[in-house]
Amino acid sequence: MPEATFAAAAIHLNPSDHVLDLCCGAGRHLATLEKYGACLTGLDYSPQLLKYARARLSMTTGLVRADMRRLPFLSCFDVVFSFFTSFGYFLKETDNTRAAEEMARTLKPGGRFFMDYLNPLYVARTLKPESRRMSHGYTIDEQRWIDEAAKRVNKKVTVTQDGRYMGATTESVRLYALEELTLLLGSVGLRVDELWGDYEGAVYGEGAPRMILKGVRTGS
Ligand SMILES: C[S@@+](CC[C@H](N)C(=O)[O-])C[C@H]1O[C@@H](n2cnc3c(N)ncnc32)[C@H](O)[C@@H]1O
Repeated sequence: MPEATFAAAAIHLNPSDHVLDLCCGAGRHLATLEKYGACLTGLDYSPQLLKYARARLSMTTGLVRADMRRLPFLSCFDVVFSFFTSFGYFLKETDNTRAAEEMARTLKPGGRFFMDYLNPLYVARTLKPESRRMSHGYTIDEQRWIDEAAKRVNKKVTVTQDGRYMGATTESVRLYALEELTLLLGSVGLRVDELWGDYEGAVYGEGAPRMILKGVRTGS
């Protein structure tokens, strides 16, 4: 994954680092990070994704199932990665703040964090309200909309087969403006010190697809 390579360079990952991939999913970034020789742990809430991760990763990479609002670690990581918008899911803002607090709490003082988040300016400019695709004989309809009042982007996915309804899911992510996210992280002791707009190192702005932040845990 070039994203993990970029992140490792940005954070100056070295073999003595203890590293957490927070919300690691199926472990695609951890698979790349393994080559750096650091001590790796992945955490996710989905047992299914952790099973996929276990199948692809070295046995020296630890995997833990937990909720990001209650992390079973205390000040033990040198680095925390949060890849691919693995934040801002909770409808209650106190839960999102709690997840940020937990991220800070798991880092050693002076520990580094790397967070790859969506760019709300780019989402607003490029949102496709509707799309349809076919997969394995199923028709997948996606509807997307921004709820300005709640500052969230929502997606409803409806699956049908030969016109028959098979199921639907909804996803919702908080749209944090850069200043808002920087303030939130700062309020829990995570100071942002560098910012990019994509994984080629582009300057952050309206036309940049991502909001990629790097920084350190302040305090003792
Ligand atoms: C957008 S995916 C990104 C996964 C991974 N970082 C990647 O890029 O492949 C978000 C991940 O967050 C996990 N997740 C959602 N809610 C969670 C929670 N409350 N605690 C821990 N993990 C959670 C999901 O299971 C999913 O793997």
